[in-house]
Amino acid sequence: MKDLISYDAYEELADYYDRYVDIKPSNAYYERPGTLSLLPDIEGKRVLDAGCGAGWYTKWFIEHGAKRVTSIDFSPNMIKLTKKRSGDKARVFLADLNQPLDQIESQSKDLIVSPLTLHYLKNWETPMREFNRILKNRGRLVFSVHHPFMDYIVFNRDNYFTTELLDDEWNTPDGKVKVQFYRRPLSEILKPLHLNGFVIEKLIEPMPTDEFRKAQPDTYEKWTKRPQFLFIRAQKTTTIK
Ligand SMILES: C[S@@+](CC[C@H](N)C(=O)[O-])C[C@H]1O[C@@H](n2cnc3c(N)ncnc32)[C@H](O)[C@@H]1O
Repeated sequence: MKDLISYDAYEELADYYDRYVDIKPSNAYYERPGTLSLLPDIEGKRVLDAGCGAGWYTKWFIEHGAKRVTSIDFSPNMIKLTKKRSGDKARVFLADLNQPLDQIESQSKDLIVSPLTLHYLKNWETPMREFNRILKNRGRLVFSVHHPFMDYIVFNRDNYFTTELLDDEWNTPDGKVKVQFYRRPLSEILKPLHLNGFVIEKLIEPMPTDEFRKAQPDTYEKWTKRPQFLFIRAQKTTTIK
């Protein structure tokens, strides 16, 4: 996995991510309210956390009554942190979402949640096909990704319709870290869902919350005018053979 984009970045960022994920405004007061607003009732449900990071969602699923939580990530440091945060109450293991997820049984999950992870994958055919295989009939997929218009504008690209690798830099208290991700047009976010048996139930572009405004008023002003992330809830309506 070492040659995958942003592998080294996430290995390096894991401790920072763990320390800040509870309070960082972009996560706590923007991404999470968006994703949580799309979740169905998870009491008694079997959930896959795909790209679990430091385990914030994994712990939330456990605390909110999920029957079984499986969490995967390609970063060994993130996996360690998720195991610690979830107190061994989830099945947590290393996996690359670009590859088939053979360790996870077909039709075994009610819900797959993948916050801020899919933009690290160039091709969404394999993950969407795998999500279709793993979900029970009528199961839900909820995910958030970089907003395609935001990346197009902020990175000053000429061709909106290209899927391309971009270089970003995160400023952390421990220094700058280079992070790469893929930008793609909206149609390339929606097409792999349609081709792999999913129907979109909701697509939202939420505003940052009032807590965000209190924590970072300048960024709040900008983000109420420019969407940062796109949030989708889709339902599996067809089993792909
Ligand atoms: C921005 S973090 C989001 C973490 C978590 N979902 C959250 O919202 O707190 C992105 C995560 O995706 C993981 N990731 C990136 N590429 C991946 C891949 N190919 N397979 C599995 N995980 C990957 C990273 O290691 C990182 O933990």
